[in-house]
Amino acid sequence: MTKRFAVIGSPVKHSLSPTLFGFLFAESGTDATYIAHEVAPEALSDCIAAMRKGEWDGLSVTVPHKLAVRPLVDEEDSLVIRIGAANTLARRGDRIAAYNTDAAGCARALAHGGATLQGANVVILGAGGAARSAVFAALDGGAKSIRIVNRTADKAQALAQAAGDARCAALDATSLQGVLNDSDILIQSTTVGMSAPDSSPLAADIVLPRRLTVHDMVYRPLETALLARAAAQGCRVIDGLWMLVFQALKQFEYWTGVRASDETALALHAHLRGAAT
Ligand SMILES: NC(=O)c1ccc[n+]([C@@H]2O[C@H](COP(=O)([O-])OP(=O)(O)OC[C@H]3O[C@@H](n4cnc5c(N)ncnc54)[C@H](OP(=O)(O)O)[C@@H]3O)[C@@H](O)[C@H]2O)c1
Repeated sequence: MTKRFAVIGSPVKHSLSPTLFGFLFAESGTDATYIAHEVAPEALSDCIAAMRKGEWDGLSVTVPHKLAVRPLVDEEDSLVIRIGAANTLARRGDRIAAYNTDAAGCARALAHGGATLQGANVVILGAGGAARSAVFAALDGGAKSIRIVNRTADKAQALAQAAGDARCAALDATSLQGVLNDSDILIQSTTVGMSAPDSSPLAADIVLPRRLTVHDMVYRPLETALLARAAAQGCRVIDGLWMLVFQALKQFEYWTGVRASDETALALHAHLRGAAT
C-alpha cells in the first residue's frame, strides 16, 4: 500500500521537503507520497490523532510545532529529550514515536564536507533551536570545546548551561576573534543571511583563519555572505543544504529502515540546488 508522509508547519508552503522527498522516494523506488500540510497550532492535536488512526505513516515537523508536538506522542528518542524539540514523527502501529534528526544532519554534513568534530574547537553562532542541535552534534561528536555566541547573550548562557557539559560555554562577542584564531569549526545557526544575500552575522573586522571549516545552516541563498567571505579567506565551506539533505536522509531511515548512501546525498543536493537559490 502507498505510504503517506507530509511536512506539517505553519506556514509550510515554501518548504523544500516535498521536492526533496519526491526525488528521494522516486530514486529509491519507495511507494510513498509526501506533501506540505499546513497545520495551524490549534489543529495540531487533531492532526496527530488522525496520524494515530493511520492517516500518516510519518511526518516531518517544522515551525511552530517542534516543541508543541512533544506531549502528543507516545515515545521520544533521547535526542528529542536532550534537544527539547522533535522534527520527525513515525507511526509504529497505533503508537507515535518522535525523533530529532537535526543534530545527525549537522554532524553528517560536517563529516561529508571533510570536517572532524572529534577533538575540535567549535564556535556556534546563535542560541535558538538550530544552535541547540549543533551543540549536541558537537558534544556527541567528541568536540574538545564548544563556544556559543549570540546576539542576546543570556540565551547563549542558558544554552551552555542546558547542555550540562563542561566543554560547553557562552562566549562574549568581544572575545570572538581570539577564540576563532584557535578554532577548527564555525557553525552559523542564526537566521542572519536568510533571503538576505548581503547580511553577515560577523562584524566586518573579523578575520576567519584558513584552518577553519565554516558551516552555514542558512541555505537560501545557498552561498551566503558568510560562506563567500569564508571561501575568499581560504576556509573550507559547507552550505546549509547539506544539513537539510542529511537530516532528511535520517528521517527517511526512521521511516523505511534504509540508510541512504553519500551518492544519494550528492544527487539530492544537486537536485535541490536550483530550488534553494
Ligand atoms: N540547514 C538546515 O537543515 C537547517 C535546520 C534547522 C535550521 N536551519 C536554519 O537555521 C536558522 C535558525 O533557525 P532556528 O530554528 O534556530 O531559529 P530560532 O530558534 O528562531 O533562532 C534564531 C537565532 O538567530 C538569532 N538572530 C535572529 N536575528 C538576528 C540578528 N539580526 N542578528 C543576530 N542574530 C540574530 C537569534 O538571536 P536572539 O536570541 O538574539 O534572538 C537566535 O539565536 C534558520 O535560518 C533556519 O532556516 C537550517
